[in-house]
Amino acid sequence: MADKIEMMYSEYQVSERIRQLGQEISKDYEGKEVTLICILKGATFFACELAKRIKVPVQIEFMRCSSYGNETESSGVVKIIQDLDHPIRNKHIIIVEDIIDTGRTMHYLLDVLNQRGPASLKLCALLDKPDRRVADVSLDYTGFVIPDKFIVGYGLDYAQKYRNLPYVGVVTPE
Ligand code: IMP
Ligand code: MG
Repeated sequence: MADKIEMMYSEYQVSERIRQLGQEISKDYEGKEVTLICILKGATFFACELAKRIKVPVQIEFMRCSSYGNETESSGVVKIIQDLDHPIRNKHIIIVEDIIDTGRTMHYLLDVLNQRGPASLKLCALLDKPDRRVADVSLDYTGFVIPDKFIVGYGLDYAQKYRNLPYVGVVTPE
C-alpha cells in the first residue's frame, strides 16, 4: 500500500518564498560575504535554491548531524557525523536547515558553532513547526510556519523516501 501525500505548498509557492528570502538576505548582507552552512541531507534542495537567489558573494559548506531519539522525536543528544572542512572564525554564517521541530538539534548546533568565533551567526529554515518546540531556538529567516504535521518533499524525508518531491507535502503513512 502507498503512503498518502497531500500537497501543502506547491513547487511555485516554495520557489516564490525562497526568492523573497534571497532578497531579504541580499539586503541584510549588502557589502559583505556570506557562508551558508547546509545541514545534510534535508536542507540540500533548499540551500541550493536559496544560494542562487542571493546577490552577495556566497560560499556553501556542509555539515551532517544525527540526533538520537525515537522515530518521531529527537533526544537532544546530537552527534556531528560530518564536520565543516574550514574554520568559520570571523565569517558571516547562516545555517540553512530544512525544518525546526523540537529545536533540540539546532540548539546544540548553534552552541557548537558559536564557540568557533564567527563574525555573525544566523539561522534560516524552510519550515518552522513551533507547536513542538522544547528547546529555545529563534529563527532569523523562515520560509513557512506550519502546524504539527509530518512533512515530506523538497528535501524532507519519511524513512529516507520522498526527498525528491518538488513540493512540500504532508504524509499519512499507510
Ligand atoms: P529537532 O531537533 O526536533 O528540531 O529535529 C529537527 C530534525 O528532525 C530536522 O532536521 C528533520 O531532519 C527532522 N524532522 C522534524 N520534523 C520533520 C518532518 O515533519 N518531516 C521530516 N523530517 C522532520
Ligand atoms: Mg535534518
